Amino acid sequence: MKNDFWLERWEREETGFHDKEVNAYLAQYWHELHLAQGSAVFVPLCGKSVDMQWLREQGHPVLGVELSNIAAQAFFKENGYIPNYVNGGKLDSYEANDIRILCGDFFDLSRDDLAKVHAVYDRASMVALPPEMRERYVKHLVNILPPATQILLITFDYPQPEMQGPPFALSAEEVNALYREHAEIRLLAQIDVLPQNPRFQKRGLTRLQESIYLLTLR
Ligand SMILES: C[S@@+](CC[C@H](N)C(=O)[O-])C[C@H]1O[C@@H](n2cnc3c(N)ncnc32)[C@H](O)[C@@H]1O
Repeated sequence: MKNDFWLERWEREETGFHDKEVNAYLAQYWHELHLAQGSAVFVPLCGKSVDMQWLREQGHPVLGVELSNIAAQAFFKENGYIPNYVNGGKLDSYEANDIRILCGDFFDLSRDDLAKVHAVYDRASMVALPPEMRERYVKHLVNILPPATQILLITFDYPQPEMQGPPFALSAEEVNALYREHAEIRLLAQIDVLPQNPRFQKRGLTRLQESIYLLTLR
């Protein structure tokens, strides 16, 4: 999947993945991480997610990475901030109120960028990537995160032949195969969500599950 696909979606305002409400699973399961106040949280492929504002309200400095400058600028505008902007070459930076969005490619992030991170919140990030990119995503992520980082991962699973992604289906088997070498994996919940999603029923899905995992890096 090319970066232009996402940049064009932001330009054309095709952002059906964006949720105006705070993610219900985030609010329900975040306490499972038992993070200290002030622990920094990384949000990969963050879009303009309102969950970043929620995480900040829980006392966490937030660091996001996002390809699209349109998304980063919209996040700060819609949350009432005027960010400080720094042109950083590969990764530009927007920052206000201890929320920083690095604008550029996730794969250009380095260990130094994530040195202070204690936790990761992954919603609609891993499932935004096609299966062939996921191994690279997980390898890069675990390589640049500090040891013992916790990851709250929300996935989406359905019979892949029934619909073209994104979001792409991500099964429990694949989460295990990709992460088991690097992390302890705990499944916190698995929920059938097809009845609440007529949009996906119309697209032909016969099964749709969301799963919430807590991963702890070794
Ligand atoms: C499905 S959206 C999810 C956004 C956000 N996580 C949310 O919950 O609303 C995926 C986002 O990842 C961004 N993205 C895709 N590939 C990326 C990459 N390689 N580096 C940084 N951002 C990327 C896209 O621009 C898009 O905003």
